[in-house]
Amino acid sequence: MNLKTVAVLPGDGIGPEVLDAALPVIEALGLPVDLEFGDIGWECWRTEGTPVPDRTWDLIGRSDAVLLGATTTKPRREALAELAPELRGQAPQYVSPIIQLRQRLDLFANLRPVENYLGGGTPYRFCVVRENTEGLYAGLDWDHVPDGMWPLVADHPNACRSGRPGSTASIRLQTAHGLDRILRFAFDTARDHGYGRVTLADKPNVLRQSSAYVLGRLEAIAADYPEIPFEVLNVDAVALWMARRPEQFGVIVAENMFGDILSDLGGGVMGGLGLAPSANIGEHGNYFEPVHGSAPSMAGRGRANPAAAFLTIGLMLEHLGFADEAGSIQDAVRHVTRRRDRVTYDLGGTATTGEAAQAVIDACREVPHTPTAAVITIGDELLRGDLEDSNAGNASRMLGERGIPVRVRHTIGDDEATIADAVRACIGRDDVVVVMGGLGPTSDDVTRSAVARALGRPLEHWEEAWQGVVERLTRFGVAIHDDNRRQALFAEGADLLPNPHGTAWGCRTEAQGSTVIMLPGPPRECLPMLEMVLRDGLPHLPKRPEVTTVFRRTLGIIEADAAALVDQLVADSGAPVRPAYRWHYPYVDIRLGCPPEAADELAKRLDTALADHIVTGRDRTAVQELATLLDQHGLVLDLDDRLTGDVFATELARERDITDGTATLHATVSGTWQTGDRTTYTGTVALTCTVRDKTDERTYRLTVPNRGPEVTTCFTQFAAWSVARHLTGRHHTRTEEPA
Ligand code: IPM
Ligand code: MN
Repeated sequence: MNLKTVAVLPGDGIGPEVLDAALPVIEALGLPVDLEFGDIGWECWRTEGTPVPDRTWDLIGRSDAVLLGATTTKPRREALAELAPELRGQAPQYVSPIIQLRQRLDLFANLRPVENYLGGGTPYRFCVVRENTEGLYAGLDWDHVPDGMWPLVADHPNACRSGRPGSTASIRLQTAHGLDRILRFAFDTARDHGYGRVTLADKPNVLRQSSAYVLGRLEAIAADYPEIPFEVLNVDAVALWMARRPEQFGVIVAENMFGDILSDLGGGVMGGLGLAPSANIGEHGNYFEPVHGSAPSMAGRGRANPAAAFLTIGLMLEHLGFADEAGSIQDAVRHVTRRRDRVTYDLGGTATTGEAAQAVIDACREVPHTPTAAVITIGDELLRGDLEDSNAGNASRMLGERGIPVRVRHTIGDDEATIADAVRACIGRDDVVVVMGGLGPTSDDVTRSAVARALGRPLEHWEEAWQGVVERLTRFGVAIHDDNRRQALFAEGADLLPNPHGTAWGCRTEAQGSTVIMLPGPPRECLPMLEMVLRDGLPHLPKRPEVTTVFRRTLGIIEADAAALVDQLVADSGAPVRPAYRWHYPYVDIRLGCPPEAADELAKRLDTALADHIVTGRDRTAVQELATLLDQHGLVLDLDDRLTGDVFATELARERDITDGTATLHATVSGTWQTGDRTTYTGTVALTCTVRDKTDERTYRLTVPNRGPEVTTCFTQFAAWSVARHLTGRHHTRTEEPA
C-alpha cells in the first residue's frame, strides 16, 4: 500500500490534547501513514493576522487528508481586540478557519454519523449529511438590508417601521449545482453504508417556494436510486423524532444551517459531543474534525473525551482506503464506551484523556475481551423480603464459572416499565442478560411483555410452547385456563427454551451483541435451564475465557501501598492488565486479569515486588496452606504460642487431615506491643515466629497495626505463614534471619 500523507492541524483548546492522545492508534494499527503537523487557529490569527497561514495551505495542498483538532472562533469585536497591535492597521477580517477550508477547498459535504455507542436502549445508526457551502452560510448576510434588496423588504410591516438601517437580512442560497451534488452524496452514502432511507430535513410548510424547488431536485436524483426510500420532513419534526425515535432514520440530508443544528442534536442523542465525529468532503479535498470544537474552558486539563477524535480518525482512514482499520477503531470505541470502565467524566468515568485513549488503543490491539453479564431477578416477593433471592447468587456463580463475570444485578418488582428499563440498559452493554422470574400465567407476571418491550419486538403466540403447557397440565390433570395462554407468548424471533420441570418456558434471543435469556423464577426450573444454555455456548463468547488471572494473597501490607506498587508494575509491564484488590482482614488479595501469554512474566514481577508479603497464590489462608504442608510432610507442630492463646493450634487442627506424624517441628510465636498496649487500639505490634527443626532455626518478623482483639486473626495467619515459609524454604525476605 502506498504511503499516505496526512496534514495534522491540532489547532486550539482541547484540539491538541485529543489528537495527541488518539493519533498513536495509527501506529498501533501499523498503517502506512505519514503525519505532517501544521499551524491553524487563534494563535495564528493573533500573531499573523490570519488563522490559516499560507504555509498551512501549502501543507494541505500536498496532503491526502487533513485532520483537524479544533479551532476557536470569537465574535468580530473580540477578534479585533486580541489581534497583535501592529496588525490592527491592516484591518484583516476574521473568517473561521473551518469555513475557509470548506469554501476554499469546496468541501460541499459534511458527514456526521450518529450511532448508539453507549449501548443500552434501542439501537440506532444514522448520519447527518449537511450541505457545507451554501444556504445561510453563503456569506450573504448584512447588518442592514443592502440598497438593492430594500424594495423587496420594505413592504414587510416590521421593516417598514424599522427602516433600512434597522433591518438586517441573510439569504438562504440554494442552487441546482449545490443541491444536486449534496443529494447525490446522501444517496451514495445510504447505498454504500447500508442506511435504510434518505430523509430531507427542510421546511416546506413555511419556506414554500425554495423547499418545493429542493423537493423537485430530490425527486429527480432519487430516481437514480430506486432501491432507496426517501421522504421530506419539516426540520422541526426531524429534531423531535431524532430525540424520540432515532432508530427510524438513515441518512438525514439538510441544508447548511439546518444540518448544523441537527448534527449537534445528533451528538446529544449519542450521549454528548464527546462522541461525535465529522468528515468534510469535496471533489478535491477534505478535512476531518471532531464536532466538539475547542472547548477553551476544558483545555489542558486532561478531561476531554478522545472518543470523537478516534472516530474522526476512523472516518479519515476509511476515506484513505483503510476500511478494515477504521472498523477496528469503531469497534474499539464501542467496546470501551459500553463498558465505561476507562472513560472520561462526560460518560461517568474518572479516566483522563490519555487513559481513555489508551483503553481504545488497547482494544484495537484486540485485548482479550472479558465478557460481562447482567442478572435481573423479578418479583414483588423479593423486594418485600419474603423470599431469599437465591437465583441471583446462583446465576452469578454459574456465569462466573463460565468466564462471564456479572457486572450488575438488579432486583425488580412486578412492574413492566421498570423491568423494561433495566433490561434495555443492559442490552448492547453486557454480553449476557439473564432475566429470571415473572413468567407465570397470572396478570401480575409481566416479564414477558417487559422483555419484548425492551427488545422493541411484538409478542407472538408460539404454538410449540402452548402444546408444552397443555401437555404438562393434562399430564397432571390440572384444568387449563385461558390465562395459561400467556405462557405461550414470546418476543418475535426468540429461540424457545423448554422447561423440563414446569409450564413456564423460557427463551433466548440476540440483540445488539447481547444474548438475552428469559427464565422462570423457581430455582429448580431456571437453574437447570440456565446451565443448559451456558453449556450449549453463546455465539459471541470465546470458547474459553481468554483472560488469565494472576492471584496473590498478601499479608502485612496495607491495600493502598499494595495497589501503588502493583499499579506501577502494571504500567511498566506494558501489558493490558486489569488489577483488582480485595481487603479481607488480615489479607489483601491481588487479582491481575491479563492475556494468557503475559501471565508468567507478570507473576514473576509481582512475586519480586511483593516478596515480603505474598502468602500464597491460591484462594486459601496461610493456616489452610500450612495444614496441607504438614500433612504432606507428616509433621507434628510443637507449638510454644505466647501470642494467640490456642487459637492458632485450634484452627490448624481443624484444617488438618492427619493427627499424628513421624517428625516434630518446633515453633515459638510471640509479639511485643510497641506504642499501644493490649487493651487500647493504638500503636503497632511486632510479631516474631521462630521455627526450629533438626538442622535449621529461623526467625520471621512482621509489624502490624494494633487493631484490638481482631488482631489475633492476623497473629494466627502470620504464625502459620512463618512455619509454611520455613517448610518451603522461601527464605528470601528481609523479615527473617537465619540462626
Ligand atoms: C460546526 C461549527 C461551525 C459551523 C462553526 C464553528 C463555524 O458549529 O462545524 O458545526 O457552524 O459550521
Ligand atoms: Mn455546529
